[in-house]
Amino acid sequence: MKWISLSVFYVLLSVFTLIIFSSQCISQTRYGEFETLILNLNNYKESLLPKDSLQSNYLTDLIEKWRLKAVYEEELVRCLYKASEGKVIYNFNFQEIVDNQSKRQGKNIILDSITPSDSIALSKNYDLFMLMSQQLVQSTYPYDTNEEKVIQQIKHYKLYKGQTIAEIGAGNGLHTILLGLTELPLKIYSNEINRYQHNYLMTIINPKNKFLATSEIIPILGKENKCKIPQKVDAIIIRNTLHHFSKTKKMLKSIKKTLNPNGKIFILEGYAQESNCSLIKTNPEIKELMKNHGFRLEEEIILGKGYILTYRI
Ligand SMILES: C[S@@+](CC[C@H](N)C(=O)[O-])C[C@H]1O[C@@H](n2cnc3c(N)ncnc32)[C@H](O)[C@@H]1O
Repeated sequence: MKWISLSVFYVLLSVFTLIIFSSQCISQTRYGEFETLILNLNNYKESLLPKDSLQSNYLTDLIEKWRLKAVYEEELVRCLYKASEGKVIYNFNFQEIVDNQSKRQGKNIILDSITPSDSIALSKNYDLFMLMSQQLVQSTYPYDTNEEKVIQQIKHYKLYKGQTIAEIGAGNGLHTILLGLTELPLKIYSNEINRYQHNYLMTIINPKNKFLATSEIIPILGKENKCKIPQKVDAIIIRNTLHHFSKTKKMLKSIKKTLNPNGKIFILEGYAQESNCSLIKTNPEIKELMKNHGFRLEEEIILGKGYILTYRI
């Protein structure tokens, strides 16, 4: 009898161990090496949520107000993001925000019904809208992280510990922040020519932002014809920016000089918020441009709405 119960005990123990082991495997394959990135992004997002429940409800109601008016989800997020940006980055007053947005995207239901207090509430949540605008988090409370989306592009770079990289035309720095949230300690130069965006990035990258503590992020105010990165780097990321260069020839020369001989350049196109950007170049035009400036195409992938071209020199 004793022998039988001992056997039953061992069988149960093995089944239990198997269940625990397989559930660990599932979570490993789900997150893999990007587990820390997702956790860090989650924590970062949590830190951005309004702590005050009244403010939090106000934000949720505000988003719902326009969602109920049947604004397309993508359009909704883009408008909220842009409306909050006017105040935070450019310090526009309410009327300037409305005028500026109307000029850029025409009249819409949000601009028609936004109030000054809505605008203040939106601008207090700019960083959250920034994450929503890239679909890294959802636009419905509690703004869950879109895990697949978070790792998609970062995975492709195959970066490793201790590398020095640069992002050219980083805008308000969201992609730089995402890179900084990986568990890899990286040295990241975040270059931008717009001084308002550059100043904003400087305010986020400070020692108090503990979510960005692993990597060293250095904002660089570049010039139209040079990136001004002070050392050679292992990888250069140019996301939605190549088609914005006004002095393309000089800029690409400067980028070439900045790359280590065995380094890689990643050109991401098609991920722009403004799909109607008048400067946009076609895929063959980008390839032709890079080829004419002596860059060697190593790989091309289509990812989500856009594509990534990997180049070597
Ligand atoms: C469409 S935004 C892309 C921002 C960000 N990389 C993203 O993917 O969201 C293009 C950015 O490139 C910047 N830019 C344009 N020419 C540049 C140059 N020569 N050097 C650095 N940044 C430049 C603009 O100021 C703008 O912020």
